[in-house]
Amino acid sequence: MSHRIVITRPIPEPGPGLVAKVASDVVANREDRPLSPEELRRIVAGADGVLCLLTDAIDADVLDAAAGCRVFANMAVGYNNVDVAAATARGILVTNTPGVLTECTADLTWALILGVARRVAEGDVEMRAGRFPGWGPLYLLGGDVAGATLGLVGPGRIAAAVARRAAGFGMRLLYHGRRPSPALEAIGATGVALDRLLNESDFVSLHVPLSDETRHLIGAEALGRMKRSAYLINTSRGPVVDERALVAALQEGTIAGAGLDVYEDEPRMADGLAECSNALLLPHLGSATLGTRAAMSRIAAENLVAALEGGRPPNLVNPEAWRGAG
Ligand code: GLV
Repeated sequence: MSHRIVITRPIPEPGPGLVAKVASDVVANREDRPLSPEELRRIVAGADGVLCLLTDAIDADVLDAAAGCRVFANMAVGYNNVDVAAATARGILVTNTPGVLTECTADLTWALILGVARRVAEGDVEMRAGRFPGWGPLYLLGGDVAGATLGLVGPGRIAAAVARRAAGFGMRLLYHGRRPSPALEAIGATGVALDRLLNESDFVSLHVPLSDETRHLIGAEALGRMKRSAYLINTSRGPVVDERALVAALQEGTIAGAGLDVYEDEPRMADGLAECSNALLLPHLGSATLGTRAAMSRIAAENLVAALEGGRPPNLVNPEAWRGAG
């Protein structure tokens, strides 16, 4: 009960209640905004455990400010906001919250596929503006979804959940990944090289973590390989796409449209994107359901508590640090 725990931003229960049980002191940022780098360094000083979010840049300076801290429990599946190598070098454990946001992120991917292809947001705007001229044979025509080819970039859990939903739309499935995915192949997806996936897909959906290898994976060249009738969907991380190249492709009609939930420099987006009517733009809502956020909160807290009690956290992303520290 002698632990000092920091929570960097208000999060739903049960996480705060769970960590309170093992803490002598909980320091929580009560304002619903990301802390500045300086505020972050200040709040983590003296912490034994930190429950942080994807909006917190946990770099070497923050880790140094948290000298003596045992764990940073990130409430997200992605942990590109944490300098994991720097944490490992300091013997600090880093954890994430995989699994629990798979289904709702796949749901939102489908919201983008259907929404951008069938011009749902544009139609809504027309109605509200009183511009619906009455049914018309050429009015707001979109792309076909049923029977189309869906190309999944990344062979992980979210890609497989998106693919399962595609069965109901009778789609042909392609995927690209560094390793074969038995889960994707079991539902009829064919593993192919990225170029072939880009050439043949009507929808290209991104499901890779952000790393040096995947940064700007989709730039002008990749967009140029896609069909002019195809759509790009991104619910992974913004920097996987070169957003300026995407704006140019949308403006020039290199591709038919894009459905985006993530951006290169959130919360900003590239100049010109807001004016692209062929882009459906959501504000990073992939895991934003009540049930999922509660599950993420619980898992982040369980990881943090396990680490503080001397156990191996279930979702450790740097096992090397566990050996070093354990
Ligand atoms: C959301 O984007 C997450 O990585 O959890």
